[in-house]
Amino acid sequence: MDAIEVIRAKRDGGELSSDRIAWVIDAYTRGVVADEQMSALAMAILLNGMNRREIADWTQAMIASGERMDWSSLDRPTADKHSTGGVGDKITLPLAPLVAACGAYVPQLSGRGLGHTGGTLDKLESIPGWRASLSNEEMLAVLRSAGAVVCAAGSGLAPADKKLYALRDVTGTVESIPLIASSIMSKKIAEGTGSLVLDVKVGSGAFMKTVDTARELAETMVALGTDAGVRTVALLTAMDRPLGRAVGNALEVEESVEVLAGGGPSDVVELTVRLAREMLEAAGVAGVDPEDALKDGSAMDAWRRMITAQGGDPDALLPRAAETMTVEAPESGVLTRLDAYAVGLAAWRLGAGRARKEDPVSFGAGVTLHAKPGDVVRAGQPLLTLHADETERFARALEALEGGYAVGPASQEQLPLVIDRITA
Ligand code: URA
Repeated sequence: MDAIEVIRAKRDGGELSSDRIAWVIDAYTRGVVADEQMSALAMAILLNGMNRREIADWTQAMIASGERMDWSSLDRPTADKHSTGGVGDKITLPLAPLVAACGAYVPQLSGRGLGHTGGTLDKLESIPGWRASLSNEEMLAVLRSAGAVVCAAGSGLAPADKKLYALRDVTGTVESIPLIASSIMSKKIAEGTGSLVLDVKVGSGAFMKTVDTARELAETMVALGTDAGVRTVALLTAMDRPLGRAVGNALEVEESVEVLAGGGPSDVVELTVRLAREMLEAAGVAGVDPEDALKDGSAMDAWRRMITAQGGDPDALLPRAAETMTVEAPESGVLTRLDAYAVGLAAWRLGAGRARKEDPVSFGAGVTLHAKPGDVVRAGQPLLTLHADETERFARALEALEGGYAVGPASQEQLPLVIDRITA
């Protein structure tokens, strides 16, 4: 086989055989197929798509490029959650210990943020001492002692995806549902979880801007997981406004701890509890109510064990940005819009996110929301607080927020927090 034959087949709208897919992924991982050839193939896939069989083969080939983790020695079922990414989406932080407290193990491999959405590892790294990189043996030890582990994927897991994702990032080929679905699911299936709940975000702050495209992505991923023997369910959830009241690494850890202490913003609590119920059901754990574990302190205990087991100090003071600036409501009325993308971009420009993989993030930077869409506000009342280490960052963050919020006479309709549930 050669790469040109595979590229031509997809360029001309044909179907790729299982053999061709297995060959091209393996040859690309080994460096036999060149980056420029793989980018041509990725573009042909973006333009012409892949059918369900091709996507399943593509996913299996990426899983086969590396190791597959195995938790069968554990005495309880495993469950994981994956979010397609959003603004203020800190749900993994309270969710992983909550589900652990309710009786399932949560082995979660997470990523760092790029662009306007934050990454779970960046958030946790704002806790002094906390380590994202663990060996497989350390991961198992944390799981056994804390019930949940959140860490970086090692280089041995789906290396084909690692290489291909970096290539797609610089060749305009990220936005392909077959490529996104196979990328996410190859890592989640290789991670070895027995059940998986997907939180597919919809709206301006998400990858998927419309309910229809989010549903297509969710259905594709649910089918891939189910075919691979992982009990998989997806929720479509709102990302037209930020989740919760904190956007930024340490700010989001603080808010997550509030949720674990039985408080926190209602949307974060509602989504955390809903996802926990879905994970427990998918894992076959019955008869426990996640709301009780938030109230009785057992989820907080699991959080403290999880952070401590990875070198973190759950009692340490979190980093704070040196400078703050307040954005006030321009008039009295109802906050009709607070756009997730605008707030995410502002937080990124304040230093919470990175432009290139190797850039550092500012742990204290971000945005605090004092009102959410639908809230009544008075002219001059604080709407947002911007946090940054340097005052020079405020002007560009304010530009990002221009047109991103509005105050009007009456509430406007917004997406429900949970829009739909997708099963196999
Ligand atoms: N996240 C991934 O892991 N892969 C994609 O292709 C897009 C988002």
